[in-house]
Amino acid sequence: MTKIPEGYTPADDLLKNRIILVTGAGSGIGAVAAKTFARHGATVILLGRGMRKLEAVYDEIEAEGGPQPAIYPMNLEKATPKDYEDLGARLGETFERVDGILHNAAALGTLTPLGQYSLDMWSKVMQTNLNAPFLITRVLLGLLKNSPDASVVFTADRVGRQGRAYWGAYGVSKAANENMMEIWAAELEANTAIRVNSLDPGAVYTDMRAKSYPGEDPSTLPRPADVMLPYLYLMGPDSKGITGHRFEV
Ligand SMILES: NC(=O)c1ccc[n+]([C@@H]2O[C@H](COP(=O)([O-])OP(=O)(O)OC[C@H]3O[C@@H](n4cnc5c(N)ncnc54)[C@H](OP(=O)(O)O)[C@@H]3O)[C@@H](O)[C@H]2O)c1
Repeated sequence: MTKIPEGYTPADDLLKNRIILVTGAGSGIGAVAAKTFARHGATVILLGRGMRKLEAVYDEIEAEGGPQPAIYPMNLEKATPKDYEDLGARLGETFERVDGILHNAAALGTLTPLGQYSLDMWSKVMQTNLNAPFLITRVLLGLLKNSPDASVVFTADRVGRQGRAYWGAYGVSKAANENMMEIWAAELEANTAIRVNSLDPGAVYTDMRAKSYPGEDPSTLPRPADVMLPYLYLMGPDSKGITGHRFEV
C-alpha cells in the first residue's frame, strides 16, 4: 500500500486546464471530489444517474466561480455497450482530450452470504463497479492519450483486499478493480503518458457507509472533504510518473 508524501500541500491552481471525468459525481465522495477538483482549476465532467443531484453539484461549482462543468447523465448499471461508445464519441466532440478519470461510482449490493447471493444483484453490482470502469477507460483511451499527463484513478476498498464474509459482489468487484488497475498501468506505462493507480479512501461517512455499517456513530468518521488530499495528489502533476500503485488515505 502506498501513501501520498507526508505534509503534501496542493497548489491552488493544481488542476488548471485539466479536464477530469468523475463518475458518481452527484453525491458522496464523488460530489466532493468534483467540487474540490473544480476549486483547484479543473473542468469537471459530472457523470451520474441522477440529473437533479448532478445539477446541484454543477450549480455549486458555478456559484464558486469554478470552470464551467459538464453534465453527463448515465446509469452505469443499465448502460449498454452502445451507451459507452456514445460517451466516448460525445466527449470527443466536446473536448480534445481528457486529463483524468476518477472511477468513483459504486453500488453496495447486498451484504449476503455467497450461497444466497442472487445472480441478478451480482450482475448489477458487477456492471456498475467493474464493467463500467473497464468500458469507460476503454472508450476514453484515445482522449487520454491526447493529454500530456493523464491520470486514471480506480476506487478501492479494503474489503476487496482480503475476502470478508458477506461482502459478496461488492468485495469481489473491488478486488478486481485493483487487479484491473495494475493491468492498465502495465500496458500503458511504456508507450503513453497515462498513469493508473487505485485509491482506498478508508472509512468515510456517506450513504454507502451508513448502509453498510448502520450501527456506527457517524460522528466518529471523517467526511468526504477530509480525505481529498490523495485525490488531488493523484489527479495533478505531483504524482507524474507514479503508476500501478495501490494508494490508501
Ligand atoms: N464511504 C466509505 O467508507 C468508502 C470506503 C471505501 C471505499 N469507498 C468507495 O468510494 C466510492 C464512493 O463511495 P461513497 O462512500 O461516496 O458512496 P455513495 O455515497 O453511495 O456514492 C456512490 C456514488 O455512486 C453512484 N452510483 C451508484 N450506482 C450508480 C449507477 N448505476 N450509475 C451511476 N452512478 C451510480 C451514486 O449515485 P446516486 O447518488 O444516484 O446513488 C453515488 O454518486 C465507491 O467506489 C466506494 O466503493 C467508500
